[in-house]
Amino acid sequence: MIYEPSDDSYLLKKEVSKFCKGKTVLDVGSGSGIQAESAIEFGAKEVLAIDIDSEAVKLLTKKGISALKSDLLSNVKGKFDLIIFNPPYLPLDKMEDRESSRITSGGEAGDEIILRFLKEAKKSLSAKGIILIVLSSLTPKSRIIKRLKELDLKKEVIAEKKLFMEKLEVWKIEAKV
Ligand SMILES: C[S@@+](CC[C@H](N)C(=O)[O-])C[C@H]1O[C@@H](n2cnc3c(N)ncnc32)[C@H](O)[C@@H]1O
Repeated sequence: MIYEPSDDSYLLKKEVSKFCKGKTVLDVGSGSGIQAESAIEFGAKEVLAIDIDSEAVKLLTKKGISALKSDLLSNVKGKFDLIIFNPPYLPLDKMEDRESSRITSGGEAGDEIILRFLKEAKKSLSAKGIILIVLSSLTPKSRIIKRLKELDLKKEVIAEKKLFMEKLEVWKIEAKV
C-alpha cells in the first residue's frame, strides 16, 4: 500500500527543498517518492530512496529514482548529508487494518519506529549531516528526547502545521557541537 501524499508530506517537502542543495540524500520510507523527487528537483547531489514496501520500491524505480527495499537502514551502506523521514508516527489503532497501520502507526505507543530509526540514522550521517523528520502531537516524545540525548543529537522545530485533531512538526536533528 502506497501512502498518498498528505499534510505531513507537504510540510516536510517544503523543508527538504531548503536543505537538499548539493547534498547526498537518503529518503527513508519514501512511499510515493514525494520527498526524493523534491530533493532531486532542488539540486541534491545524489538521492537514494528506501522503503520496506515492495510496491513502493517498484513505483520509485519506475519513476527513475534510485531505490532499495530496506527495513529502516538495514540494507543501506555509506553516509549521507541529509536523511529524511516522514515516518509512521501514530499510536496503534486496533481498529485499523494491518496494511494501512504499516504506513501510519509507529508501533504500539507510536514512537517505536522513530526510536529505532534515530539509532540507525546516526551511524549513517556524514560529519555535518542533518536529519529532517515529521512528528505529530499524538507521538509520545519523552523516549525520543531521551534517545536524542543518548546519541548526542540536538533538535530544533523548524516547521509546524495545526490540523483538526493534531499538530504536525518538522524536527531538524543534528550532532551537538
Ligand atoms: C507516512 S508514509 C510517508 C511516505 C512519503 N515519504 C511521504 O512523505 O508522503 C511512511 C512510509 O514509511 C514506510 N515504512 C514503514 N515502516 C518502514 C520501515 N520499517 N522501513 C522502511 N520504510 C518503512 C511505509 O511503507 C511508508 O511508505
